[in-house]
Amino acid sequence: MTPTHPTPANEYDDDAIVNTSANPHMSDIMATRLSRRGALRGGVSVTAGVLLGGMGLTACGGGNSNPAIVPTPTPEPGPVTKPLALGFAAVAKNKNDLVTVPEGYQVSILHALGDPMHFGDESWKDDGSEAAESYNRRIGDGHDGMYYFGLSEAGAYQADRSDRGLLCVNHEYVVQPFALHPAGRTAGAARLAAEVEKEIYAHGISVAEVKRGTGADMAMVRGSKYNRRITSATEMVFTGPVKGSALVQTKFSPDGTKTRGTNNNCANGYTPWGTYLTCEENWLNVVSRAAGDNAKRTAKDVASLNRYGLPENRNSPYLWNTAGTEDLFVRWTSSVTGTSATDDYRNIANTFGWVVEIDPFNPTSTPAKRSALGRFNHEGAWPAPAVVGQPIVVYQGDDQRNDYIYKFVSKALWSAADVNGGMAAGAKYLDEGTLYVAKFNADGSGAWLELTFGKNGLDATNTAYPFADQADVVTNARLAADKLGATKMDRPEWGGVNPLNGEAYMTLTNNSNRVATTATPTGSQLKPDAANPRFYADTYNNANGTTSTNSGNPNGHIIRWRENAGSVAATTFAWDIYLFGAQADAAGDVNLSGLTAVNDFSSPDGLYFDPRGLLWIQTDDGAYTDVTNCMMLAAVPGKVGDGGPVTAAGGTATIKGANASADSVRRFLVGPVDCEITGIAMTPDGKTMFCNVQHPGENGALTGTGVTSHWPDSQTVAASTKRPRSATFVVTRKDGAAVGV
Ligand code: FEO
Ligand code: CA
Ligand code: CA
Ligand code: CA
Repeated sequence: MTPTHPTPANEYDDDAIVNTSANPHMSDIMATRLSRRGALRGGVSVTAGVLLGGMGLTACGGGNSNPAIVPTPTPEPGPVTKPLALGFAAVAKNKNDLVTVPEGYQVSILHALGDPMHFGDESWKDDGSEAAESYNRRIGDGHDGMYYFGLSEAGAYQADRSDRGLLCVNHEYVVQPFALHPAGRTAGAARLAAEVEKEIYAHGISVAEVKRGTGADMAMVRGSKYNRRITSATEMVFTGPVKGSALVQTKFSPDGTKTRGTNNNCANGYTPWGTYLTCEENWLNVVSRAAGDNAKRTAKDVASLNRYGLPENRNSPYLWNTAGTEDLFVRWTSSVTGTSATDDYRNIANTFGWVVEIDPFNPTSTPAKRSALGRFNHEGAWPAPAVVGQPIVVYQGDDQRNDYIYKFVSKALWSAADVNGGMAAGAKYLDEGTLYVAKFNADGSGAWLELTFGKNGLDATNTAYPFADQADVVTNARLAADKLGATKMDRPEWGGVNPLNGEAYMTLTNNSNRVATTATPTGSQLKPDAANPRFYADTYNNANGTTSTNSGNPNGHIIRWRENAGSVAATTFAWDIYLFGAQADAAGDVNLSGLTAVNDFSSPDGLYFDPRGLLWIQTDDGAYTDVTNCMMLAAVPGKVGDGGPVTAAGGTATIKGANASADSVRRFLVGPVDCEITGIAMTPDGKTMFCNVQHPGENGALTGTGVTSHWPDSQTVAASTKRPRSATFVVTRKDGAAVGV
C-alpha cells in the first residue's frame, strides 16, 4: 500500500520516518570504493537446478578480504531437468481498467471484498448495505499476501495437491474510497460505530477452500467447513519471550498472555508443517495516543513509542477509538487512563507488529503471535526451504524508511515428522530461536547481528533504551538493531528464497528522502550507500498537465544475498543488487539493469519464488503510473555475483547483478487503474496462479464522474458502473498447461 504519488489523505504513510538513531549510515563509514574482485569473480557457470556446491574460497580468485562464498546446502529442490525459460509474450504497459495477461491466458475472479463465504448471507449488493457483523463471514478488504495449501481428502495438508486446497489471504486495510460503506466514510472528528465495527471485521485474514472444476481454473467453495475469517477482533495468544510480559498486559489480558485482533496484514509466509504466517505492517493506521501521555510514562516507554512512530497527541487515520465507549473501540488508544496497565490499553501498541501463525486446517484453532520473530512494521516472514536436521530460517523486513532486514533461526532442527503438526509444531520451531538484523558492507559482504538480551550491549547499560530482558528486545527490535549498527534500507518490502540455490531476495521499494552524496543530511535524511545506492530525479506527468519531481530512489531496487559457511543459518553473507527499477528511457546510471520496453518497472513490492524457481515481481508504484498501471513481471534469476561493480546515479559505488534481458525478465500482466498488484500464490503443478489486485480506483471517488476504476466488474463488463473492489483473481492458460513457462 501507499504509493509514493500521490499520498492518500487518510492512510498511514509508511514513508514516515521514525528511525532517528545515530547509527552511522553506511556511506559515513565507507572509506573505500568497493571491489568485486575476489568474492564474486569466479566465473562459475551454474545452470538452473545445479547447486553451487564446491564453489569455495579457491573459486573466488582470492586477493581481498571478502569472506569465502560457500553456498547454502541443498534446500531440497525438486529435480529440474531443463533450464527454466519464460514462455509467454510480454504484456505492454497500459492504463486500461483491466488485468491484462499474455495471449493464450485467461483471468477469472475468485473472490472480492464483501463476497459471502458461507450460505445465509446475501451476495454483495454494491451499495455498502451489508451489516457490519456479516463481515465475520465475508471476504475482507485490501487483499494482500496469500498462500495456497493443498488439502487432502482426510482434511490435512498435502503439499503436492493442486486441484483442491485452502487459500489464505491477508486483508490488509480498508481501502479508499471505502466501497464497503453506503456512501464512503462519513466525515467528522468522531467515527460512526457501525462503520468502525464493519472496518474492524473487514481487516484480517480469510481462509477459503478452493477447488478446480474441469480445467485448471479454481473457484471458492462457498459454505466449506474450512472457510473462516480472522479479524481485528479475533482472540489470539502470545507465545515466545513476550508471553506473560508486563509489556503486553492490558485490561483484556491482565497476565499478558492473549490479545484481540491482527491488523494491517501485508505480506505473509508459510511453514513446512502447513500453517500460514501473516504479518502486521501499518498498524499505526488504527492506534492513537492522547495528548499529555508522555508525562504519565517512563522515559523508556516514551523512547519505545516514538521509535515505533507513535508520539503523544497522535490521532490514527482511522480514528477507531472515537466511535464510542465500548471496549471494542476505546482499546485503540495507546494511552494511560487507569492506575495500572491492567486497567487500560496503554500497551495496545505493543500488541501489534508481530508475525501471527494460523492453522488453516483447524478452523477452531487459536492464532498465535510468535513474538520471538520480533516486532516492527512487519512486512512479511519468508522461510528458506526446510532441510531435515537444520534450523528453520525465516527472513523478514521492516517496511519503514531507514529500517532493517531481519532473520530468525529456530533452535529446534527440522524434522519432517512435524508436517501437519499444526500450532504445536509452530511452538516447537517459532517460539525459541535467535533473531538477527542485517548489516550490508560496502565490499559486498554482510553480517547478521544477533539481537539477544545480554549480548552485544543489549542490556540495562544501553543508554538509548535500557533493555530488561528478551521480551523487551523483541518488542523493541528496532531499538536493539539501532544499537548494533544495522544498515538502514530503502523500505524493505517482500522477500523470498530461490528454491534452486537458496539465495534470498528482498525488494526495497523506493525512498523519496535520500539526498546527494555532497549534501548535508538534515533530520532523518539519508545519503546513498552501496546497498541503497541511487540518487536521482524522476519527472511525473500529472493529469492536469503539470509535472512533479520525485527525487532520491523513486523507482526502487531488489537486493539479494547468499549465506556463507554452507548454511542458511550462517551469520555472514555475500550480496549484490539483482535488479534496479527504472523507466527504459532513463539515464544509464539510473537504468542500471538495462531494462527495456518489455520489462521496465518502478517500485518493486510483492516478490515470490514459485516452486519451479521462477521469480515473480509485483509493483506498488506512484512514479511510473503516469505511463502504466502497476504490474507483475516474471523472471529467471541468476545468482549473486553474476554482474559486477558499477557507479550509480549520484556517484555511489555498488555491485549489480547481470543485466536484464527479454529472456530473463518479462512483463506478465498489468493491473487495472489506480491499483497495486500484491499477493501471489500457485498450485504445486504450476497450472493455477492466484494474484491480488488491491485498492483499484484508490485515487478516485466512489460514485459520479470521479470514479477511476470499476474493477473487478470491468474485467468482463466494458461499461461497468460498479464500485471498485480489492479481489483475488486466478490466471490460467487456456490450454491448461503450466503458467509462465
Ligand atoms: Fe504493505 Fe509495505 O506494503
Ligand atoms: Ca508498497
Ligand atoms: Ca504492499
Ligand atoms: Ca517519470
